[in-house]
Amino acid sequence: MIQSDTEYTNPEGLHVGMIMDGNGRWAAARGQPRLFGHRRGAKVVTEMVETAPALGIGTLTLYAFSSDNWKRPAREVSGLMRLFRSYLASETARCVENGVRLCIIGRRDRLSPALIHAIQAAEQTTRAGKRLLLRIAIDYSARDSIVAAARCAGECFPGSREEFGALIARVTNSPVVPEVDLLIRTGGEQRLSDFLLWECAYAELAFPDCMWPEMDARRLGRVIEDFHSRERRFGGLAHTAAAS
Ligand code: IPE
Ligand code: IPE
Ligand code: MG
Repeated sequence: MIQSDTEYTNPEGLHVGMIMDGNGRWAAARGQPRLFGHRRGAKVVTEMVETAPALGIGTLTLYAFSSDNWKRPAREVSGLMRLFRSYLASETARCVENGVRLCIIGRRDRLSPALIHAIQAAEQTTRAGKRLLLRIAIDYSARDSIVAAARCAGECFPGSREEFGALIARVTNSPVVPEVDLLIRTGGEQRLSDFLLWECAYAELAFPDCMWPEMDARRLGRVIEDFHSRERRFGGLAHTAAAS
């Protein structure tokens, strides 16, 4: 049965965010055009989605195209937009089979009608997925989403932080999600590039030493293992210190 958003409960598990960076450099190092790297990167997305539930991930948010990426050459942008459409066309059935609910976060008004249609179809078709919530960020800016939520909230917002977070989710076309537990960025840079600024308040950060097309299930497993060895304090004290 298809769920309405008010009935929706998140799959159990970690919320992991991924900044999928390094496709262009990976391709250039092989004498290939940047789009070659993006196409290879899309295959890695499939591997990540397949691996995620077994590693205890319930929500996966992937940064595919930032609002600042419109600054790139028109050829690269149009190639990426075509790639998003073909990803949705080829992966939707696999998502249904694997219990993956797909949701595209970000602005829609600058996307082509054909891509918007593909997004709506994929979201509708995968709506009942309960094993993994897969959010893909396209034309996404965390700052823009916070501004949009603030506009909805109005001047004297009486709600809590959680309620404001829910507004942020709503303005980005997403169900309400838990905060990010772990943020992974490939590609060597250690910055957020306007991704999930609100949701990452206490996220653990990981920077695997590879370009996105080189990311794989084994590397993800190692990052998750390392994550479980960390102590998250959320501003409190370490267990040992709290007991003394
Ligand atoms: C990330 O890879 C994918 C997108 C931003 C669309 P890049 O395209 O940024 O690759 P690099 O960082 O130039 O290598
Ligand atoms: C961030 O990568 C955006 C995505 C991965 C989609 P960028 O390559 O655009 O980020 P900067 O420019 O290095 O900060
Ligand atoms: Mg980059």
